[in-house]
This record gives sequence, C-alpha cells and structure tokens, in this order.
Amino acid sequence: MTASPPVDPFDLVIFGGTGDLALRKLIPAMFHRFLDGQIPSESRIIGIAREATDDAGYRDTLQKALIEGGGDKQKIDTFLKQVHYRSLDAKKDEGWDDFAQLIAEQADHIRVFYLSTSPELFTHICNRLGAHELNKGKSRVVLEKPIGHDLASANEINEDVARVFDESQTFRIDHYLGKETVQNLLALRFGNALFEPLWNAEHIDHVQITVSETLGVGRRGSYYDHSGALRDMVQNHILQLLCMVAMEPPGSLAPNALRDEKLKVLNALKHIDSSNAAQLTVRGQYRAGASEGKSVPGYVEELGEGKKSNTETFVAIKAEIANWRWAGVPFYLRTGKRLPARLSEIVVAFKHVPHSIFDASAGTLAQNRLVLRLQPDEGVKLWLTIKHPGPGGLRLRHVPLDMSFAEAFGVQQPDAYERLLLDVVRGNPTLFMRSDEVVAAWRWADPILAAWAASGEAPRAYQAGTWGPSAAVALIERDGRTWNEDSEDEE
Ligand code: BG6
Repeated sequence: MTASPPVDPFDLVIFGGTGDLALRKLIPAMFHRFLDGQIPSESRIIGIAREATDDAGYRDTLQKALIEGGGDKQKIDTFLKQVHYRSLDAKKDEGWDDFAQLIAEQADHIRVFYLSTSPELFTHICNRLGAHELNKGKSRVVLEKPIGHDLASANEINEDVARVFDESQTFRIDHYLGKETVQNLLALRFGNALFEPLWNAEHIDHVQITVSETLGVGRRGSYYDHSGALRDMVQNHILQLLCMVAMEPPGSLAPNALRDEKLKVLNALKHIDSSNAAQLTVRGQYRAGASEGKSVPGYVEELGEGKKSNTETFVAIKAEIANWRWAGVPFYLRTGKRLPARLSEIVVAFKHVPHSIFDASAGTLAQNRLVLRLQPDEGVKLWLTIKHPGPGGLRLRHVPLDMSFAEAFGVQQPDAYERLLLDVVRGNPTLFMRSDEVVAAWRWADPILAAWAASGEAPRAYQAGTWGPSAAVALIERDGRTWNEDSEDEE
C-alpha cells in the first residue's frame, strides 16, 4: 500500500482499552499504521479501563495480542513505548485528575477520545471529559456502535454527547464504511461512465446484501442477547451498505455531500410494521449443528445453562426504497451468525434481456450480476453471458469477469479500522455517520422490532452451518428470485 503522509501528533485515548475491540482491532490497526510510518513518535495511545494495572501491565497484554497476530517482537516493543494506561471507572471520580494531567502534558496534540464501551457509559464519559475541560483545541470523540438501543436512547445519547462535543467533533464509527470494497463502490459507481446510466429501476431487477458469519456469539452473549441481529448488523452496517448502493451521486466527496445523500435513502425506506412484517421479514435463531467441520452448540446453550432467549441471530428482510430511482426494486438483506461461510457481498442483479434470439438448445439466459465481495477475498465480479468456445452450435455460458483486489494490486487489504482511525485524527468525517443518519436508521428499525415483539412469535430455528431458516429462502423465491450462490457454483 502506498503510505499516506504522517498525521500531526495526537493522543488516542481508548475507553474500554482492555476490551475485545481494542485488543482485536484498534491496537493492531494502530500498530500497522505505525509500521507504515504514519504515527509520529511523540503521539500517544492511552488505554483506559477499570482494571487495576499500569503502563507495563497493559503493554504486556498488548504485546501478547500483537505477537499472536504475527507481529515482529522488536517492532512491537518499539511501538508499545508510545502506549500508556490509566485505570478509572467512568462513573466514579477517582483517577480522572491523574488522567487529565497526563493529557495536559501534551496540550498541542490532537485529542481523540474513542468510546469503545457499552453505550450506557457514553454520557458519563462525555460529562467527565467536559468537567475536566479535556475538550480543548483539536479534540474529537468517536462513538462505537451501537448508538443506543432504539430511537429514544439514540436521541438521548446524541443530545448528551452534543452538550460536550459539537457535531463536527463527533465521529460515529461504522467500520463497514472503512472496508476497501465499500469505498470501491464509490469508485466503481462514480469513476466509470458504464454503470450509472443503468443504475436504476429500469435496468436493475433487484439488489441483495448478505453479511454471513460462521462464528457464534461466543463470549459476547450478554451484549448480543440484548441486541440481536437487527440491531447489531442491519440498523448500521447493512443499511450503510444499502445507502452506498442506492444513494444519488453526491456533488463531491465532501463529508456532508455524501451524508446528505445517504440520509435521503434512509428516509425513503418503506415502512415495515405489524401490518407487513410477517411478509417482509424473517428472524431465526441457531440450534446446535456443525460449523467448519466441528459440531457446535446452539445459541441458547452458548448463552449459558438455564438461559432462554427470543433474540434473533439471523434476519432476512425485503426492503424497498420509495423514490423514482428505485421504485419496485427489492433490496433483499440477510445476515446471521453460524451460517456456512464467512461472506459479505452486495449483488446487483440486472434485468433479463427483453427477448431471446437463441434456440432453446443454447441454454437459458441468466441475468447479469455485479457482485461486490467485501470479504473474504475482496473484489468485483461481473457475470456475463458468452458463447461456449468451439464448433457445433451456439451454447451459452454464464461466466464472471473476476477481479480480486489482492491479486490485481498484490497487497494485503488494510483493516477498516486503520483507515477510519487516521481519518478521525485528520478530522475527516466523510466515512462516519451523522446523528441524523443514526436517527433515520432507528426510525426504520424500531417499528420492525415493535412488530416482532407484538407478534410474540419466537424466532425460527435453523441448524448451525445452514443458510438460516427455510422461510428466508421462501422470502426471495416467492418473488421468483434466488439468493446468489454463484460463488459456490464456480469450479
Ligand atoms: C460488529 C458486530 O459490528 O461487526 C459483530 O457487532 C460482527 O457481531 C462484526 O461480528 C462483523 O464485522 P466484520 O468486519 O468481521 O464483518
């Protein structure tokens, strides 16, 4: 990767510094940027958590995590010299003076306060940052999803944070927007003259967005059981992907130009509520089964003995956007845990040709499909119909023009957090959610959640290692369409 220029000296403060996200994503992301020479040597990373440890203890924990991730020990140790730790409880006074003093030591640094904690703590942390006057100079706050649990709690968080930080200082992260393929969607749509004229209801039959995971909920059960797939994945990541596919061309990549267009899409989503949720949504929960060749327990067993739960670990939705560009074009969305493959993709299925000139013996004509693979093996595939080579009649075949970004560019794709963390330091909010986007997304999701609650129905069971409940297949097949299985069909 061509390294971008280093940024100005900064302090990155991670609340929830010993948590899963910090250890698995944030610290490794900073380490990779350090290896690329993008982190000025006077910059500091400050982990904050309740755990009673010190700089040395924290560095040991991080060293272990980074070595497990395949890092070089000497380089890791050099990087860790820039890392510090302070123990404090967001809800208590102790420790804050000491922390404030540490921050004051570098008064001219850009300050990034990353709230990688549960959303209940956002207000406490912001209030204390305000009370200790830490919002000085170039300060920014990063809010990790979920932003609230529903519309009301999201509004409350937005208001509380706004008492201390301006909207321009508030970075609501959705790491899907930092994924290479998602940004590539901008390049593909608006850097080529080819697609945009076809990008509408006249030429597109439907769109599919699938984010499937093989993992179960593991140790995140207590968070996940209060959340479920709609809040955890659809309200944020999947709706953001849908916006990137469906938005009108923004005038530029200026932060508000892009976010204004995404907001219009969210506001145009057709309402799903008790009157139509049974036809347009499917929720599921995994039972014991097999994943990656091993038998695995069901969701409820993973939660722990004696637990019961109506939380969905799978959801499929037929969404529609009520505007001129997309009238009548369904957007089929699905996501779930313990599915057969880790796969995230956007499929844009074009309409069938209006008339076939070929004999039946030529074979069937399939739709052109543009498949954007977010993971694994990021890339773009365009399925075309061509003639099978050789004499003896004209036989049609459906084959992909296939581009893997790793093969084409010979580089490992950087993790989304690498890009996004440095965007925060630079103060570029283009790939972050504005408060009105979060509110609009909840406004669409809340009535679905309410409809499910009112129905009193339990989620449908699916066996771990399958593509969710059969009703999810019926959801799309009722319309004479199928979920994309091209990736599996290839030899
Ligand atoms: C997170 C969700 O936001 O995204 C997790 O809370 C999910 O449940 C994760 O596993 C998926 O991210 P990625 O980048 O691995 O697709």
